[in-house]
Amino acid sequence: MSNNDTKFLWNCWYAAGWEHEVAEAEKLERTFLGKPVVIFKGESGRYIALDNRCCHRGAPLGMGRIEGDCIRCMYHGLKFDPQGICVEIPGQDKIPASHKVRSYPIEERGNLLWIWMGDPALANTDDIIDYAPLSDPEWQGLPKQCYLHYDCNWMLIIDNLADFSHLAFVHTNTLGGSEAYAVETKQEIERLERGFQFERWHRESAPAPYHLKVNPDESPTVDRRNYVQMFVPGVFLMETAFGPVGWDQSADHSAVKQYRNCQYMTPETENTAHFFWDYLRNYRQDEEAVSISLRDSLLEGFWEDKVIIEAQQKLLELEDPFQPRGIAADSALAHFRKVWDELLEDQRVNHPPKQIEVTRSIL
Ligand code: FES
Ligand SMILES: [Fe+2]
Repeated sequence: MSNNDTKFLWNCWYAAGWEHEVAEAEKLERTFLGKPVVIFKGESGRYIALDNRCCHRGAPLGMGRIEGDCIRCMYHGLKFDPQGICVEIPGQDKIPASHKVRSYPIEERGNLLWIWMGDPALANTDDIIDYAPLSDPEWQGLPKQCYLHYDCNWMLIIDNLADFSHLAFVHTNTLGGSEAYAVETKQEIERLERGFQFERWHRESAPAPYHLKVNPDESPTVDRRNYVQMFVPGVFLMETAFGPVGWDQSADHSAVKQYRNCQYMTPETENTAHFFWDYLRNYRQDEEAVSISLRDSLLEGFWEDKVIIEAQQKLLELEDPFQPRGIAADSALAHFRKVWDELLEDQRVNHPPKQIEVTRSIL
């Protein structure tokens, strides 16, 4: 696939990794939108994202050596500055201007790194969707923010998150509760310019299994509220609350247990995706056992999604054409795809991605 017939939206901020992932890897090698990237922290403390292929023979800079805010390719020793410009060729005085690798704008918000894969001239840091609970000490997250790799197109994960009726069937014993959730709750979506939002109440229901596990004294019947927002290119934010039957938003919240959930889908290739997430709460923040239990429950739930979505992907990849048939519950995902297609069309007309010209290939 060339950049010009792309299904990727290039001019967006994408979640690229958690800070702890870069600290652990030192040089985090990750592919975004089909492009190999290396992310590292320079000695000045700034994050740097470069094309992972050295401009000489394409060896990975991720196997290189960080020197100050530069990185040296450990094949033949070319050294690149944070802008990707080659500043040293061992044994050679003259450095041709063409000897550089692409550098990508990268920013940190709430321990999450955001990368801009499109035209750097269009990158505006005000457009980063900074999720406040990630930086708010009132909200306690998981022991470490999490990452999962999916063998599927990123849009299938977005579809999954756009329709909560699947909770009842995929996550009966983990995140869902009962099949009643699909039948008794309504999902009226509000269409937004770059996504959608909806609020979903399940009155007089059993608390979700993951919540009950850390709150064994919870009443057997609660009112559950989910408030979801989804934005291009793949940002899912959710408020979840379990409270006494009859509670509402205006009432005293002391008996209501609240969660904040963020999930980010970033295309790796057309058929693989990165998935980042955290799950935060505003009660018993200092109890590590609660954080661990929530992480394990959520992970179990996401594995349930992963299994069915990756199986779906395999079938959709077959040559045999497949025509999907919509149901009422698809309204959110249908709107999201419409928004995506309109933005793709705008990109095609107004900001077609530039294709680099290769005059000599190595392989
Ligand atoms: S491939 Fe990097 S220096 Fe030769
Ligand atoms: Fe799910």
